[in-house]
Amino acid sequence: MKKIIVTGGAGFIGSNFVHYVVKHHPNVHVTVLDKLTYAGNEANLAGLPKDRVKLVVGDVADAELVDQLLKTTDAVVHYAAESHNDHSLRDPYPFVQTNLIGTYTLIKACRKYNIRYHHVSTDEVYGDLPLREELPGHGEGAGEKFTDQTPYNPSSPYWILRMNRAIRAECRAIYCINPSV
Ligand SMILES: NC(=O)c1ccc[n+]([C@@H]2O[C@H](COP(=O)([O-])OP(=O)(O)OC[C@H]3O[C@@H](n4cnc5c(N)ncnc54)[C@H](O)[C@@H]3O)[C@@H](O)[C@H]2O)c1
Repeated sequence: MKKIIVTGGAGFIGSNFVHYVVKHHPNVHVTVLDKLTYAGNEANLAGLPKDRVKLVVGDVADAELVDQLLKTTDAVVHYAAESHNDHSLRDPYPFVQTNLIGTYTLIKACRKYNIRYHHVSTDEVYGDLPLREELPGHGEGAGEKFTDQTPYNPSSPYWILRMNRAIRAECRAIYCINPSV
């Protein structure tokens, strides 16, 4: 059986991913690593089989815990984040801790054990688009949507931390040692 770790797996999108994996991939065991912040809810994992899903309540920035979990894992899918933009304007510290240090901690451990790593980012690193009504093609015209060639244009600490270059460099390094990532 393959073993994967889903960080932030008790959150909105991560928990839906865990349900999807359990339903469609019977040969996969999921360990959810989640700090259960105000955004996480154990109830999101209710009804999942105990022999297929294990919840570890912990922090992605806890290097010792991350190292221990990753030793015996085949892949990491990283959803855990401080994800509420407005909170980052009031107090960016938790965003630095989770989105930067936590992500870096995971990537370092993935490199150490040569583990496949999937990073979930956000389109918000590209900044804002005008409202569809204000665009000549109502959002469907050439250049009216973000593409992966769109230059980064963040305007809040949340967005900046999701696009930081150190993490992108580490991702590239992982890709170099394991092109299947
Ligand atoms: N929801 C959206 O519309 C949206 C859009 C684009 C991208 N994203 C990205 O997708 C990912 C998941 O988004 P979401 O909406 O499910 O977020 P969410 O806020 O619902 O869930 C985040 C989860 O991460 C956990 N968490 C937070 N800090 C942690 C830490 N230090 N260690 C371990 N767990 C921690 C929380 O407890 C929570 O369960 C995020 O990276 C987010 O930026 C979300």
